[in-house]
Amino acid sequence: MTRVDTPPPATIEIVPFTDAHLEGAQALSQAVDWPHRVEDWALNLSVSEGVVALEGGRVVATALCSLHGPVATISMIIVDAAMRGRGLGRQIMERVIALAGDRELRLVATADGLPLYRKLGFEGGGRIVQLRGLARAATPEQPVRAGPTDLHALAEMDRAASGMERGALLARIAGTGETLTTEGGFALLRRFGNGHVLGPVVARDPRAARALIAEAASRMEGRLLRTDLIEDRGLVPYVEGLGLRVVGDGTPMVRNPGPRAASDVRTYALVSQALG
Ligand SMILES: CC(C)(COP(=O)(O)OP(=O)(O)OC[C@H]1O[C@@H](n2cnc3c(N)ncnc32)[C@H](O)[C@@H]1OP(=O)(O)O)[C@@H](O)C(=O)NCCC(=O)NCCS
Repeated sequence: MTRVDTPPPATIEIVPFTDAHLEGAQALSQAVDWPHRVEDWALNLSVSEGVVALEGGRVVATALCSLHGPVATISMIIVDAAMRGRGLGRQIMERVIALAGDRELRLVATADGLPLYRKLGFEGGGRIVQLRGLARAATPEQPVRAGPTDLHALAEMDRAASGMERGALLARIAGTGETLTTEGGFALLRRFGNGHVLGPVVARDPRAARALIAEAASRMEGRLLRTDLIEDRGLVPYVEGLGLRVVGDGTPMVRNPGPRAASDVRTYALVSQALG
């Protein structure tokens, strides 16, 4: 998109994102073919602050920022197609960047978002691969247990892998979804869009990660499953073997990166492309 000189209409107001904006935000994400239900937006908003742009009461842009200890994640950056190229994307981004203070900022960029984020000082590296499809059952290589578990221990493992303190988000997901645990790893499975999403998948080694994914695929046999993998971890071919195929991708980007403690625990799948 080339920048046009027309600024956003003066009638647009940018206000804090509240529950009252969830339906309008969902309509906006639907218009860009994102699968989020109102419930999916609500989960994100429950751990975020953000802004919406309103024109005549209609939501025409959204932006969210979640604070997870030393790291903030930015998500759901959308501008109504009719309003693009007029500086509104930059305005809402600047508002949510300010919410993050001096924290490290992360996001996963679509091709549309990349130019704007680069201009705002984000740098990219690697690839997040979105896989989706009707799951096929597989036998886990090691035992996997489903059911309630010590969420504090899972949040600690997630923190070691991601550098984020997001026990509140993980507890919310575990509260409505399924928690899978195995020796050296865990994963969460929840409703999302018109199917389910598996993420995060956090593990000490690929064997534990594969076992968690196989268990989730077996539970979801014949049903729509999505997972957003970090490509470098090498599990894309394995997940394709479980009936899912690559349907999209994104670029992880960071601004103002902070120090990272070394850890043998790694993230294999994100909570989702939006949530990091
Ligand atoms: C990404 C998006 C939010 C940008 O919104 P926007 O209102 O068009 O952005 P702006 O007009 O503020 O543009 C911001 C800057 O990026 C540049 N830019 C935006 N889109 C660009 C493109 N496709 N190619 C090159 N430059 C681009 C603009 O020139 C502008 O630069 P400037 O501020 O230095 O003049 C919008 O395209 C969108 O909603 N896309 C669909 C949803 C999506 O993919 N969101 C990103 C999720 S990670």
